Amino acid sequence: MPPSESSPADVDLSVQLGRLALPNPILVASGTFGYAREMEQLVDLDRLGGIIPKTITRLPRPGNAPWRTVEASSGLLNSIGLDNDGIDAFLEHHLPYLARLQSPLIVSIAGRSHDEFVAMAAKLAGFSGIDAVELNISCPNVSGGVDFGTDPELCGKLVAGVRGSCDLPILAKLTPNVTSIASIAEAAAAAGADALSLINTVLGMAVDWRQRRPLLGNVLGGLSGPAIKPIALRCVYQVSQAVDIPLVGIGGIATIDDVMEFLVAGASAVQIGTANYYDPAVSMKLLDQLPAAVASLEATRVASVVGSLQRADAPPAAPPASSAT
Ligand code: SIN
Repeated sequence: MPPSESSPADVDLSVQLGRLALPNPILVASGTFGYAREMEQLVDLDRLGGIIPKTITRLPRPGNAPWRTVEASSGLLNSIGLDNDGIDAFLEHHLPYLARLQSPLIVSIAGRSHDEFVAMAAKLAGFSGIDAVELNISCPNVSGGVDFGTDPELCGKLVAGVRGSCDLPILAKLTPNVTSIASIAEAAAAAGADALSLINTVLGMAVDWRQRRPLLGNVLGGLSGPAIKPIALRCVYQVSQAVDIPLVGIGGIATIDDVMEFLVAGASAVQIGTANYYDPAVSMKLLDQLPAAVASLEATRVASVVGSLQRADAPPAAPPASSAT
């Protein structure tokens, strides 16, 4: 092997999201992986770069009326409505299991108000085994769920409030359902977010025309899966041009090519979401394939691939020496 070419075995997979260090950039997205225990027979949970369980709220929520999911072309519409047992049940029943895992644990929270978000984050900070919080300010399926993700001022105040009351690293999960995601990102970054997760689902709808009825009980829902990947890539790219904090890409990621596209476009890590439903072990496959993909760019660290996108008019990179015929 020529000395300039890197070997997959030598690739450093670790990435840094502000104050949060991850062993690798392959995370599983909130709402698509339960509380991880459900997946233990299928996934080596300790290998994951991070686990983000289903969003929790202060009080238990029964969620929205059925139907809550509908398949769409290359995607999935959901309107779950943040069905969960609440923060106390999470701390009592799920945290002890999750905290024993090697993988970093990022707890996703949603509050109905500024003060509720802040109080939940402060409560979590009192427990060991939690590595970061993800502020879900982007759920389209509950009343007020996107208020903090669509108004830069509210978003900034919220992130600052959480930062002031909780010493855990903070990720803010942003919605694409805005005119300018970059301006929301700038507000979150200025207020002290360690990283931004983007994107949450794209607002959509499904109709049964024969019955003349919407298919989702809540009428509207959030679209995820491969259908939204180009939108997510666009958001990662645009936000990477606007802020200096790390980004976590989410949206239709299912293959190693998808992962690499997000890294090159500016994401330091990715979350696997909808693909977990049809291939629960997909994250393990991506982890197996990642070192070779990084090495194929003659890089020895994932971090050095992040944001390495060239301008469209730049000359193409020379092929690695080993692929020359
Ligand atoms: C839901 O529970 O409705 C989905 C969660 C989300 O989109 O953040």
